[in-house]
Amino acid sequence: MQNENKPSWRKNRVTAELDIEYPIIQGALGGFSSERLTSAVSNFGALGTFGAYSKDPEGIRQSIAQIRSLTSRPFAVNLWVSMEDEAAFRSSELEFQRSLSHIENELRALSAQPPKFEPYHPANFEDQVSVLIEARVPAFSFIFGIPRREVLDEFRRIGTTIIGTATTVAEAKALEDAGVHIVVASGFEAGGHRGSFLREAEESLTGTFSLVPQVADAISLPLVAAGGVADARGVRAAFALGAEAVQMGTAFLACEGSGATDTHRSIILNGEASLTGLTRGFTGRLARGVRNRMMEMWNSASEDILPYPLQRQMVRALSIPAQAAGRSDLIPLWAGQSASLTRHSDATEFLKSLVSEIERETKLIF
Ligand SMILES: Cc1cc2nc3c(=O)[nH]c(=O)nc-3n(C[C@H](O)[C@H](O)[C@H](O)COP(=O)(O)O)c2cc1C
Repeated sequence: MQNENKPSWRKNRVTAELDIEYPIIQGALGGFSSERLTSAVSNFGALGTFGAYSKDPEGIRQSIAQIRSLTSRPFAVNLWVSMEDEAAFRSSELEFQRSLSHIENELRALSAQPPKFEPYHPANFEDQVSVLIEARVPAFSFIFGIPRREVLDEFRRIGTTIIGTATTVAEAKALEDAGVHIVVASGFEAGGHRGSFLREAEESLTGTFSLVPQVADAISLPLVAAGGVADARGVRAAFALGAEAVQMGTAFLACEGSGATDTHRSIILNGEASLTGLTRGFTGRLARGVRNRMMEMWNSASEDILPYPLQRQMVRALSIPAQAAGRSDLIPLWAGQSASLTRHSDATEFLKSLVSEIERETKLIF
């Protein structure tokens, strides 16, 4: 319920549409999402998001039930509209062996088994999304495309808020034309994948500071800024640029209860994630993480990177034993450019301190 006595930054189209207290979204964290973190953020009065793209329908059903057992507040579930690169269907054993050759020495040194080639079996977005509809999730967010019209119609019919993600102005317009309720404009500072869908990700690398005002001019929907926001200064800047909410990922990845390992979280929290880069080497799709040996290795062997999600499976064959051996140089360390601004390891404490800092100086711009 919107309360008339709230400070004005908390009363806008995003908070009204989502029925939340604070225009702050914990972005999906893909396979690092957790029911606990999602519900902690929602319980605070912001919007927690559960990234479900890597789960099968039954797993998604269980996660939604668990989130509902932990919070009665609105939350979002996030999916990837495009689940694989076309090339994944054609990718051969020869390509697999070429990619494997780049990590064979490391696997041997870790006494780990090399992965075996298997033809790609597609996962199905339509099966996943029907679970979200059946469960009547409060909000549905997505990247890497736009779902079919019938799917969006169904979400609108059941009253779910639809949140699409754009990495360019053209994508934001396409999302508005498709009838989403809220657009997230994701600048290239963001951690995780670059969810571009109209052009190659490499051709869609606008930063948040440029992207947000241009999207604000181009569409009339409520706009959320994502990418590089990690503290009150970022929130104020995002609002000044035309956003009505922010979405943060890296800052929440560092919090307890995220699926990131303790090593990964402490690298973010200890300021060791200040140098990030873009690579297709983690999964086959362009993504941002800490520059480490794993990233450099794949960026210098980019012609042998497999299509998504085959590369992800290849990398997991190395990162799981590397993690067990404490080799953080050989695991994908997802993080955005503002990782070093991260100070908090508890999501609720982070949100409390963020809100109090914003409200100390809201008079300046809100
Ligand atoms: C590890 C990781 C995984 C992510 N997975 C997803 C995802 O599955 N779906 C999605 O829409 N966004 C995903 N994101 C993007 C975040 O939701 C958020 O928009 C982004 O992290 C904001 O930029 P920041 O990292 O600078 O805070 C991911 C981000 C990270 C760091």
